[in-house]
Amino acid sequence: MTQAPFDMMGLRQVVHTTDSIAVLTGAGISAESGVPTFRGTGGLWRDYSAEDLATPEAFARNPRLVWEWYDWRRGIIRQAQPNPGHLALAALEQQTVGRCANDASFTLITQNVDGLHERAGSRSVLKLHGDIWLVRCTGCGAVERNDEVPLRELPPRCRCGALLRPGVVWFGEPLPRTEWARAYEASRHARVMLVVGTSAVVYPAAGLAELARAAGAKLAIINTGETPLDSAADWVFRGTAGETLPQLL
Ligand code: OAD
Repeated sequence: MTQAPFDMMGLRQVVHTTDSIAVLTGAGISAESGVPTFRGTGGLWRDYSAEDLATPEAFARNPRLVWEWYDWRRGIIRQAQPNPGHLALAALEQQTVGRCANDASFTLITQNVDGLHERAGSRSVLKLHGDIWLVRCTGCGAVERNDEVPLRELPPRCRCGALLRPGVVWFGEPLPRTEWARAYEASRHARVMLVVGTSAVVYPAAGLAELARAAGAKLAIINTGETPLDSAADWVFRGTAGETLPQLL
């Protein structure tokens, strides 16, 4: 550790003077909005198995079960509001892009599919794991937005007659190519990366923080619990995203 772990003044100074910030968020940033995380206390993978619900094989086996789970999560997300953590990142984007007069100076990379970053006002969000409000046809490949809560038809079908699937990335599937390439470049060029509310155990997303670090970025972790990245970080803030991120502004 090269800096005092709770030196918010130090991090704030770096964030407000650098021309290249990357942020990697995970389910923890939406926890204070009432959206369940995957791991840890109350995490979805305590009660449900990823193999039964979030793999292509699970969908092939039982599309209705998979869709029931997504329908339930869409209901929770529909009720949720962006919290001060999401809002602080949107404000930081605006400040940074304005100060540097450069859209590329701030990149928000998220593993979340809930859309709360956009609803908070973040303009440029790289969604590595897709979007729970998109559906994709397993037959003709058409992708469209679907806002129905609850879904009228379970499992839903495309106009072409084939099954629709959630527009998210499941375990065993590749990440969307353009988003990944942009996230990779932003991480490689970042001078500071904020890693917020992610257990940092799911690859390749978690590897972006390692990449940023190896390329010389300073790393700040904001998490209520420990992460495997803590020992490599310049700052570790052990608190909620909603309480910690606004202090950066
Ligand atoms: P996880 O559920 O694995 O981790 C959530 C992290 O947020 C944990 O490290 C918690 O300690 C932390 N946390 C909880 N509440 C917090 C709060 N209020 N403020 C800050 N931190 C908090 O979620 P992800 O890391 O996003 O993928 O999980 C990565 C991927 O695994 C997900 O995108 C999903 C999942 O399985 C797929 O479904 C493909």
